[in-house]
Amino acid sequence: MAADSNSPKTVTLTQGEGGEQIELPVLDGSIGPSVVDIRKLYGATDMFTFDPGYGATGSCVSGLTYIDGDNGVLMHRGYAIEDLAEKSDFLELAYLLLEGELPSAEEKTTFDNAISRHTMVHEQLSIFFRGFRRDAHPMAIMCGVVGALSAFYHDSTDIHDPVQRMIASRRLIAKIPTLAAMAYKYSLGQPFNHPRNSLNYAENFLHMCFAVPAEDYVVNPILAEAMDKIFILHADHEQNASTSTVRLAGSSGANPFACIAAGIASLWGPAHGGANEAVLNMLNEIGHKDNIAEFVARARDRDDPFRLFGFGHRVYKNFDPRAKVLRQTCHEVLDALGVQDPLLELAMELEDMALKDQYFIDKKLYPNVDFYSGIILKAMDFPTSMFTVLFAVARTTGWVAQWNEMITDPMQRIGRPRQLYTGPTHRDYVEIGKR
Ligand code: SDX
Repeated sequence: MAADSNSPKTVTLTQGEGGEQIELPVLDGSIGPSVVDIRKLYGATDMFTFDPGYGATGSCVSGLTYIDGDNGVLMHRGYAIEDLAEKSDFLELAYLLLEGELPSAEEKTTFDNAISRHTMVHEQLSIFFRGFRRDAHPMAIMCGVVGALSAFYHDSTDIHDPVQRMIASRRLIAKIPTLAAMAYKYSLGQPFNHPRNSLNYAENFLHMCFAVPAEDYVVNPILAEAMDKIFILHADHEQNASTSTVRLAGSSGANPFACIAAGIASLWGPAHGGANEAVLNMLNEIGHKDNIAEFVARARDRDDPFRLFGFGHRVYKNFDPRAKVLRQTCHEVLDALGVQDPLLELAMELEDMALKDQYFIDKKLYPNVDFYSGIILKAMDFPTSMFTVLFAVARTTGWVAQWNEMITDPMQRIGRPRQLYTGPTHRDYVEIGKR
């Protein structure tokens, strides 16, 4: 939906029947819904707006990612996700998100080299891992070690210095795969692998995860291509819960490493990035296609908290365009590996049944990005506990781009939502012996 140039420039709010009126400006974007600017509302009416979950609230101006949930559209800086997944690579998308334009060949080479030469982490950081139990969830480790980066890189925490912002941004994009691979190796009791500058971003990540000192490791190009595509599809997604967490943390002036650690914590939830792990656990719980109807019935039952993980979305009320690309990738990877995964067959049966179920049709619940990613990652030999970590690896690029955009936004102020208070009104204190 293009921004309607004929949209009203103001909306008028009338308080009660024939009451006082307030005129609020309407702001148009380049595409998508316009917004009502309510910044003067409280001063004029002593009232707040009310929007739990911010589903109808624009929190910022952004030019990074556009989503049209009704038509299943996702664009980064105007480029369709389908084109980027097919023709680009993850670091080119990172450059596009950070700089606003696709790089020239020379710019791409310079950027790739800059990232690959920041992939090592301070050797002292590896000591942090020793403090975790081997069976610690890797997302718990990521929350800890990413936040700890600010203890090592004081020379890139001044958020008002554009050079330091750029260094911190590149350090985060470069080091997050290294830390993720370290979390995986630590859980296995295997030695950490150092990054290799001769490998691209996805190849390097697979090398750091799966190479062992006892033998040579050759990256499977099919898996590397699938990994890069999964990174592209998870890179950024407008003002989702974890991105909004990063922006809110950053609005207080917190350093970028702490902000990204906050984003990782938010992404971990099963309603958000934790869904890919929850999809695999759900498919294992369903176990056989004969049980699908029972689980779909439970998902329909408002009194049953069970939801079909991998279905539904706050914004997409049509197919998640990323799910469409991943569905194709899923078949390509499993075919290429010669993997007959009964869970994929079960997933296809579940998708088919859910898409025909009237409840899911009425509620516009379609498979989302998490529905297929877990099956691909399982085929690539990642444990389910690593699925959300891989989501965090990719989303760090989006978080970093959104953080930079926020810091340089002249409208930027510290985030401070208000509330509808429903607690007790004033009461006098009574000493404990007299209550
Ligand atoms: C991600 O925001 C982003 O962009 C996120 C993300 C990103 O890239 O950052 O896209 C990544 O988080 C994808 C979503 C992954 N989560 C899951 O797959 C978990 C399962 N999905 C649900 O938890 C749910 O769909 C949410 C959390 C994703 C959305 O929840 P909402 O906002 O409550 O969904 P809705 O308003 O569209 O729900 C409409 C109705 C509700 O029923 P009623 O209250 O109207 O009776 O549909 C129901 C919901 O209860 N519903 C489901 C359902 N999802 C929504 N019922 C059964 N199974 C489901 N999966």
